[in-house]
Amino acid sequence: MVTAVGTGTKSQALKPLTKRNAWKALQIHYKEVRDLHLRKLFADDPARGQRMTIEAVGLFLDYSKNRITDETLKLLFRLAEESGLASRTAAMFSGEKINVTEKRAVLHVALRAPQGTSIVVDGENIVPQVHAVLDKMTDFANRLRSGEWKGHTGKPIRNVINIGIGGSDLGPVMAYEALKHYSDRARTFRFVSNVDGTDFAEAVRDLDPAETLFIVSSKTFTTLETMTNAHTARAWSLQALGGDAKSVAKHFVAVSTNEAEVEKFGIDTANMFGFWDWVGGRYSMDSAIGLSTMLAIGPEHFRAMLDGFHQMDEHFRTAPFERNLPVLMGLLAIWYNDFFGAQTVAVLPYEQYLKRFPAYLQQLTMESNGKHVTLEGKEVTYPTGPIYWGEPGTNGQHSFYQLIHQGTRVIPCDFIAFGQALNPLGRHHDLLLANVFAQGEALAFGKTVEQVKAEGTPDWLVPHRVFEGNRPSNTILAARLTPEVLASWWPSTSIAYLPRVLSGGLTRSTSGAWNLARCWRSALFRSSRARKSLLLATTLRRIISSATTGDSRNRREKLRTGQRGPPARRPASWSHTAGRPKALGRRAVLGSAALSGPEKRPRGHAYLARKRGFQ
Ligand code: F6P
Repeated sequence: MVTAVGTGTKSQALKPLTKRNAWKALQIHYKEVRDLHLRKLFADDPARGQRMTIEAVGLFLDYSKNRITDETLKLLFRLAEESGLASRTAAMFSGEKINVTEKRAVLHVALRAPQGTSIVVDGENIVPQVHAVLDKMTDFANRLRSGEWKGHTGKPIRNVINIGIGGSDLGPVMAYEALKHYSDRARTFRFVSNVDGTDFAEAVRDLDPAETLFIVSSKTFTTLETMTNAHTARAWSLQALGGDAKSVAKHFVAVSTNEAEVEKFGIDTANMFGFWDWVGGRYSMDSAIGLSTMLAIGPEHFRAMLDGFHQMDEHFRTAPFERNLPVLMGLLAIWYNDFFGAQTVAVLPYEQYLKRFPAYLQQLTMESNGKHVTLEGKEVTYPTGPIYWGEPGTNGQHSFYQLIHQGTRVIPCDFIAFGQALNPLGRHHDLLLANVFAQGEALAFGKTVEQVKAEGTPDWLVPHRVFEGNRPSNTILAARLTPEVLASWWPSTSIAYLPRVLSGGLTRSTSGAWNLARCWRSALFRSSRARKSLLLATTLRRIISSATTGDSRNRREKLRTGQRGPPARRPASWSHTAGRPKALGRRAVLGSAALSGPEKRPRGHAYLARKRGFQ
């Protein structure tokens, strides 16, 4: 049995996934490396923390703390090649109808294609259509934001409520929350999705209908939840505005592909913003589905966001696999899911504005990869997409991190952090970053029996205090959360889809580059602000120490009283760091070979130092 890669004239025959040479080689290789500890990998290769990083499109990925060797990567890239990833990517970008179940092109990338470019679907260049809708959205946003657009009674619109569900909700909510810093604070933005009436009731309870605009966002304009909420909104608005049906045109706009249904609802089609069947719901947030985002952050920021998407699209399309962020992240997800049997991936943003990012990513990855058959409808014999879940960082630390550190499962973690705070407040950001780095280090290196005993722990307590380490993680860093940066790590490309791409089971599109890297640490130490660095190093050490003792009460107490934690001792195997007592505080905290000496800092650290304005 063979799998077709691409469709139409460009399809190629492929062996089933588990019969491909690279897959079989990976199975053998897995048995050789599964017991290798990250402590040893770092000790044996002082350059690891430097080598295993990628920087692209304003993002920095540190993937050195994965349970991989150079051979693992070689085999994973070979798997991508044997699976025709390059031709699948080209097929998607060129508008081939790779969504075989719906016989559609998969072209969310066209939504951010710059003006003047050309992407042809069914003989027509679709880029001008995209820009015509963008211009219409811009015009509407300018009128609403300037107060020119008025409600039925002549009052300006102060409240905007997006009604939608799935891709017509999760993207807009996430983008609004993520980019709130850039939003118009004079207006209220809310989102209603659930058919549970409470969602609607709570969203409108303190709002004046005369100042409220609803955006009904639904690709099909038939989805039960959305239409139920839209009709309730219509009744709520009409009742307050004297029952005049003409008011609907002033208080409702639609985002949809279904003009007939929009008209039936009573919305003036002049106020309908269209998109196309080649945009999958979960990739639609930079189409007109992002109208609420544009109203909140303004057309300029929205276009900057599209530019970020486009840059990452181009990176994904053109970078060689070894330097390709989405490809690498997708392959690592396969490595853990299909070889380690890891079932889940934790997404842990150390950035409050990204609190809805894991929920957004869930639809992106799990709706995409939630299949048990290949493109030909054949049952697969291996796990497909992993479960994505997560919470903002430090909240998770007081909830589920115990299980990640000390439980029985392998849970790969993706940490996300930014060099600069959008709301600088005292030591908050330093503490936040100290936490994210400390967690990555503690997960990787753990705490051995010897270390626990050396702390004077009674024998009976030792097993409870040991942290095995060897828990894989990625750290993804950017200088600052901006519309471009948010977009660039997002669904532009293919982490989410790789499992199905490789299995020949791709049904719709490729998507999902949201990940990337560490790099920040040396910024803290290259700084001329030595005091600040020292303070942070001390804090890091305490946090690592308490992360690996699991003693958060102890940690809080120490932080409160300013008492230093016990010196974090590195395992003997970290020989590259031995014999430098003066720098112990710093290096013991940071732990990895990447910081084996001030002269050997990874390139990315300097990058973030620069971005953060530390040098
Ligand atoms: O049920 C999933 C789904 O089809 C998503 O793909 C889509 O984003 C969502 O429902 C909402 O659909 P619509 O935009 O047509 O209301």
